[in-house]
Amino acid sequence: MLTAFWLSIAVVSAIPIGKFQAVFNGAEEKGHDEGNFRDLKVGELNFLHTTDTHGWLGSHLTQPNYGADWGDFISFTTKFKERRIGSNDLLLIDTGDKHDGNGISDATVPNGIRSTEIFNEQDYDLLTLGNHELYTEDNTILEYYSTVVNDKFKGKYVASNVEFVTNESEIVPFGSKYRFFQTANLRYNILAFSFLFNFQRANSRAIVTPAAEELQKDWFQEVVNSYPEEKVDVIIVFGHMPITDPEEHEINKVHAILRTYYPNSVIQYFGGHSHIRDFAIFDERSTGLQSGRFAETVGFLSIDNVRSEAPRFSRRYIDFNKDSFAHHSGVNFKKDLRTERGANVSSKIGEIREELNLTSVVGYVPRSYYMDSKPLTSKKNIYNLLTTNVLPLLKSKKTNSSKSRFILINTGSIRYDLYEGEFTKDTEYIVSPFSNDWNFVEIPLALAEDVAAYLNNGAILMTSMGPPESRMKAELPKRRDSCPFIHTPGFTKGYTTLDDFGCKGDDKVHNSELYFPVPNVVQSVELQAGWSESVHFVFYSFIQPYVINALNALNEEKKVVTYKFSDADCMKYGGKSTGELLKDYIRSLDKS
Ligand SMILES: *[C@@H]1O[C@H](CO)[C@@H](O)[C@H](O)[C@H]1NC(C)=O
Ligand SMILES: *[C@@H]1O[C@H](CO)[C@@H](O)[C@H](O)[C@H]1NC(C)=O
Ligand SMILES: *[C@@H]1O[C@H](CO)[C@@H](O)[C@H](O)[C@H]1NC(C)=O
Ligand SMILES: *[C@@H]1O[C@H](CO)[C@@H](O)[C@H](O)[C@H]1NC(C)=O
Ligand SMILES: [Zn+2]
Ligand SMILES: [Zn+2]
Repeated sequence: MLTAFWLSIAVVSAIPIGKFQAVFNGAEEKGHDEGNFRDLKVGELNFLHTTDTHGWLGSHLTQPNYGADWGDFISFTTKFKERRIGSNDLLLIDTGDKHDGNGISDATVPNGIRSTEIFNEQDYDLLTLGNHELYTEDNTILEYYSTVVNDKFKGKYVASNVEFVTNESEIVPFGSKYRFFQTANLRYNILAFSFLFNFQRANSRAIVTPAAEELQKDWFQEVVNSYPEEKVDVIIVFGHMPITDPEEHEINKVHAILRTYYPNSVIQYFGGHSHIRDFAIFDERSTGLQSGRFAETVGFLSIDNVRSEAPRFSRRYIDFNKDSFAHHSGVNFKKDLRTERGANVSSKIGEIREELNLTSVVGYVPRSYYMDSKPLTSKKNIYNLLTTNVLPLLKSKKTNSSKSRFILINTGSIRYDLYEGEFTKDTEYIVSPFSNDWNFVEIPLALAEDVAAYLNNGAILMTSMGPPESRMKAELPKRRDSCPFIHTPGFTKGYTTLDDFGCKGDDKVHNSELYFPVPNVVQSVELQAGWSESVHFVFYSFIQPYVINALNALNEEKKVVTYKFSDADCMKYGGKSTGELLKDYIRSLDKS
């Protein structure tokens, strides 16, 4: 019976990881640390993994920790292979989400036309798509015709549960359903699948089938028959799906199904989407790695004793900078990292940035503002900056400021910290990549003043409103807080990741950051002197359904008006987007 089946899986995944710690004893290797580096433990089968790059191919110009670009990454993989892998094997994997977050992808029409060229310079052995390749038809068409059917990636682009609708309305797999191949050196037989999480908002050019359902199809049975356990050394499941998924347990369902056909195989997962560094133990012969977001992480994983009863796994999260790349590839100086091909890609990125005017300076940010490493009440919190100084700049063409005004935004609409330094056109795409329209409704103050609290309390809204990465945030601080707090003079601030192997996965020992919870929504409130009973309540048009729900629920409780709110009560407010208002604010600082 299906329900009981899923239930039992949920129970399995809830077993405390302590159960497996004996098996993995010593996995948190003491290793030889040089400076504050933690070295990589190269094994027989090695992987480098990226995910959720979201257009961040041109490095993080205001964050030295993540100051390498895609060309440096290409140099790194070349040198790493030459100098560290030898007669072992290395596979390069990406798990999708390549748009929306940086000007290099987002300042072009269609979105990603230039960034895709750059991204595809990397020699991936396995690659696939994320949900951000499926929001607009343009993105989906570009991905299919530029990458999926690109000769360079023949067979290597895998999407087991996604189909593409061609220009001729034909439904075809979005790449290979699976890939079976042998590694170059040790001749491991690899069987690879790729699953996108159950994303049901794809545009009309793509179809996503839930992974567990896809695995019931004939093609999978045929694969199992052709490649039974004795013909396979390692199963790789890479896809745009979180490896820790406390709500849906999707990856655990996939694992349970695979184990029924492959009870003894090594199964290695690579995941993404929730924008975190993470490593999970599934059982004695199966682990999963997830490698951050926005090209600030290269995930490393190795498996040793691959063909034995007791494979050994090791993981590292490599900071995306040239020091780390040089250190781990074993070159003596940063300048020795460079390869001609990598350098060519770096200069191409520079040309694109110039062409798209991403380098043109709008103003200067006098100090850094953070999303979650400062509390909301802090002057260094970006939401505090927005509600105090930026949103009040909003002007309507449709109405005037005779009434008190509330302006409510969902925090998920801000994607990145705002760092001290030059504010360029790129900064706009980075901090607030979504263009937005404002709507408003005229309502009694007695209702308006409770909407934000209502939206921030709703557990249901937590899962449906923000982008998924913000929904997971609530659980993160707890996990990170259970690692020792590091404060060593001379160390830079950065990740201390807690995962199923412990607190020592990051390739550099960093000073710890504090994390503060971020609510669903924040608001700016301007109460007019001599305010009347009714106010203008302004919000992003795309959160209108949530605002209307909140108003009706609050009114049911408080009985302020005698009617129900609907879309008909909402009007266009007009005015500039949050990103543009932020730009205006930064500009105004220069003049003052
Ligand atoms: C498919 O159609 C799009 C426009 O909808 C066009 O840009 C593209 O070149 C077409 N591709 C092929 C292979 O026909
Ligand atoms: C790098 O770019 C130069 C100049 O465009 C070109 O001649 C060279 O072949 C390129 N090298 C590689 C390895 O792509
Ligand atoms: C970049 O700026 C220049 C000069 O201001 C302008 O001529 C050009 O059209 C801009 N290009 C883009 C892609 O915005
Ligand atoms: C503001 O707009 C309202 C209509 O929405 C109008 O009745 C009022 O006179 C206006 N006030 C000012 C000061 O323009
Ligand atoms: Zn993502
Ligand atoms: Zn995603």
